[in-house]
Amino acid sequence: MTEPTSSGPSALKGWLVFGAVLVAVLITGLLLASIMERRAEAAQGQRVLQPIKAWESDSSKWAVNWPREHASWKQTEQKDTKTKYGGSHQYDLLADVPANVILFAGYPFSVDYKQARGHQYAVKDVTDSGRNIMTKPGTCWTCKSPDVPRLMAEMGPAKFYDTPAKDLIPEITHNIGCADCHDPNTMALAISRPALIEAFERQGKDIKSVSHQEMRSLVCAQCHVEYYFKKDEAKGEKAYLTFPWDKGTGVEEMDAYYDEKQFSDWTHPISGAKMVKMQHPDYEVYSKGIHAYRNVSCADCHMPYKTEGGQKFTDHHVQSPLLNISNSCAVCHRWGEEEIKSRVESIQDKIVHGRAIAEDALCKAHFDIAACKQAGATDEELAEVRKLVRKAQLRWDYVAANNGLGFHAPQECQRILADAADLAQQTRVACVRLLAKKGVSDPVIYPDWSSKQKAQDLIKLFGKDATPPKLIAGK
Ligand code: HEC
Ligand code: HEC
Ligand code: HEC
Ligand code: HEC
Repeated sequence: MTEPTSSGPSALKGWLVFGAVLVAVLITGLLLASIMERRAEAAQGQRVLQPIKAWESDSSKWAVNWPREHASWKQTEQKDTKTKYGGSHQYDLLADVPANVILFAGYPFSVDYKQARGHQYAVKDVTDSGRNIMTKPGTCWTCKSPDVPRLMAEMGPAKFYDTPAKDLIPEITHNIGCADCHDPNTMALAISRPALIEAFERQGKDIKSVSHQEMRSLVCAQCHVEYYFKKDEAKGEKAYLTFPWDKGTGVEEMDAYYDEKQFSDWTHPISGAKMVKMQHPDYEVYSKGIHAYRNVSCADCHMPYKTEGGQKFTDHHVQSPLLNISNSCAVCHRWGEEEIKSRVESIQDKIVHGRAIAEDALCKAHFDIAACKQAGATDEELAEVRKLVRKAQLRWDYVAANNGLGFHAPQECQRILADAADLAQQTRVACVRLLAKKGVSDPVIYPDWSSKQKAQDLIKLFGKDATPPKLIAGK
C-alpha cells in the first residue's frame, strides 16, 4: 500500500468538503448581511422623514420628523421666568425708567414700551402693542412669523411691505418657527428674510459663502438687528425694510448713514430735534464683543446642546442663558454657576449706571433746547444743538434698545454711553451760551419726570395746542 497521494480520491473529497464549507460560509454571510440591512431599513422605517412642503409655516407639521426640537421650541411659551435684568416676562420699561417717556416724547414708544419675551408671543405682542401697529405698513410683521416668508414668496417682498399691516392679519397666524430658520428639505439653516441678504449684497459680501458657525448667528440677525423703513419714491417703495449697514454696523457708521440719507423717525416735541429710534441692534452689538471675536455664536449660548434619552440635540427653547447656565456658559467656562451669574450681573449693573448718567443728561438737554426757544432762539440758532442731541440720543439708544443690557459687548457699550453723555453735555453747554446771548443767566427750571405718570402728563404739555411749562424765570 502506498500512502495516498495528494491527487488520490480522499484528497478530492477533502477539497469538496472545503468547497462546500466555503459556499455555506459565503451564503450565511450574505444572508446575515441582508438581515442586518433589513433591520437597519426597518429601524429607519420608523424615521422615514415626512416631506414638508415649501414655506410650511405651521411648526406642528414639522414635529412628525423632529419631535424633540419641536417640544423644546414650544417651551418658549414660558412667560414667568426672571433674571436680574431679563427673562421671559413683560415688564414696563416706562415705569422702570420714566426718562424713556421724555426721550421718546412724540413717538409711540412713550406710550407703550415693554421688554421682549419668548418667540411664542411674537404675533400676540405686536398685535396688542399700545403702539398701534395696525395703522402701520405690513413691514411691521416682518420679524414675527414664518407666514412672512410664505407671503413674500407669493407676493414679492416689496408688495408685502406696502400692504397695510391690518390687511395681513388673517394671513399671519403662526409665531416664529421652523420655517424662519430652516430649509424644510435639508433642514440646513437658511436665511428666509431678504433684508439681511440685501444688506450683505450692498456691502459687497455674499451671504451664501459664510461658515456654518456664522450661520448660527445670522439666522438670528434676520430679526435681532437695527433697521428702518426706506422710502424710495422712484421705485414706488413706501416702507422697504432696510438695515443701515452700508458703511458698517458700528454706531458711528449707522449715524453717518442716517445723516447722509437725512433720515429721521420723528421730530421731538420738546427740543424740535429730528430723531432716529434705534430698534434692537443685538447682532451689531454682539459683533463688537469678545465672544464674536472668539467665534462663539448666538446659538452657542441661547440654543445649547441638550441630551434626552441618550440623544443629543439642539435645545430650541430660546431664552436667557442665565436660566440654563450649566448647558450654555459652563460648557466653556469652568467657573461655578453662581460665579458666572454674578459676573453677568455685575457687567449689567455697570451698564445701567452708565446708561442712567446719559439718560439724565439727555432729558435735560431736550429741556435746555426748549428753554432756548422760550428765550427767543430761532430755528437757525438751534440747528447745531438739535443735531448734537440727535447724535447723543442715537448712541444712548444703540445701547439701551439692545437686549442683554450690554453683556454682549460690555466695553463697547460703555464707550458708546460715555460718548452719549458727553454729546448730551456738549448740547447743554451750547444751550447755556445761547441763553446767555438771549440775556438769560438763571438756571433752567426742570419739570418733574420722576414717574411714568408724571412724565406722560408732562410731555402732553409739549403737544399741539398745549402750553408748555415755563423753563426760564421771568419769561
Ligand atoms: C456668550 C453668550 C452669548 C452670546 C454669544 C449671545 N448672547 Fe444673548 N444674552 C446672553 C446673556 C448672558 C444675556 C443676559 C440674560 C439676562 O439678563 O437674563 C443675553 C440676553 C439676550 C437677550 C435678552 C434676553 C432676556 O431674557 O432679556 C436677547 C434677545 C439676546 N441675548 C439675543 C442674542 C442674539 C441675537 C445673539 C447673537 C447675535 C446673542 N444673544 C448672543 C448671552 C449670550
Ligand atoms: C423671525 C424673527 C426672529 C428670529 C429669526 C429670531 N428672533 Fe428672537 N425674538 C424675535 C421677536 C419678535 C422677539 C420678541 C417676542 C415678544 O416679546 O413677543 C424675540 C425674542 C427673543 C428673546 C427673548 C426671549 C425671552 O424669553 O426673554 C431671545 C433670547 C431671542 N429672541 C433670541 C434669539 C436668538 C438667539 C435667535 C437665533 C437663534 C433668534 N432670537 C431668532 C424675533 C426673532
Ligand atoms: C430661531 C431659529 C430657529 C428656529 C425657529 C428653529 N430652529 Fe432648528 N435649529 C436652529 C439652529 C441654530 C440649529 C443648530 C444647527 C447647526 O448648528 O447645525 C438648529 C438645529 C435643528 C436641527 C438639527 C438637529 C439638532 O437638534 O441639532 C433640527 C432637526 C431642527 N433644528 C429642527 C427644528 C424644528 C422642527 C423647528 C420648529 C419646531 C426648528 N428647528 C426651529 C435654529 C432654529
Ligand atoms: C463656546 C464657548 C463659550 C461659551 C458657550 C461662552 N463663552 Fe464666555 N468666553 C469664551 C471665550 C473664548 C472668551 C474669551 C476669553 C478667552 O479667550 O479666554 C470668553 C470670555 C468671557 C468673559 C470675559 C469677557 C471679558 O471681556 O473679559 C465673560 C464674562 C464670559 N465669557 C461670560 C460668559 C457667559 C456668562 C456665558 C454664557 C451665557 C458664556 N461666556 C458662554 C467662550 C465661551
